[in-house]
Amino acid sequence: MNQTKIITAASELGRNVLEHGLGGDVHIERVQRQEKIGLRMTFTDSGPGIENVNLALTDGYTSKNGLGLGLTGSKRLMDEFELTSIPGQGTTVSVTKWK
Ligand SMILES: Nc1ncnc2c1ncn2[C@@H]1O[C@H](COP(=O)(O)OP(=O)(O)O)[C@@H](O)[C@H]1O
Ligand SMILES: [Mg+2]
Repeated sequence: MNQTKIITAASELGRNVLEHGLGGDVHIERVQRQEKIGLRMTFTDSGPGIENVNLALTDGYTSKNGLGLGLTGSKRLMDEFELTSIPGQGTTVSVTKWK
């Protein structure tokens, strides 16, 4: 069910902003592509950033004592997943679910 997928991704990515990103913002918007509509959530922080994005996107990898499934899980649950991170500057993760 889309609702469960969206709230799970929102809670995981929101928690990452707090736990790893030292706090940040979320922007939730309606998106449209041709006749399709969807929901996009963009999480932004100005924390330490991610040195190795490939490693961070590996199931079970955690730099703290998490489960290491937040990023990979969110990627699987949503239709689109985009991660941009600059070490020392911060991280942006954007996820979209199409109806
Ligand atoms: N917003 C962020 N800022 C900095 N590092 C992050 C951020 N989000 C994720 N990471 C890095 O990616 C790793 C994997 O994230 P995740 O899959 O959510 O696992 P967990 O949060 O359980 O460690 C984290 O341990 C952390 O090193
Ligand atoms: Mg996490």
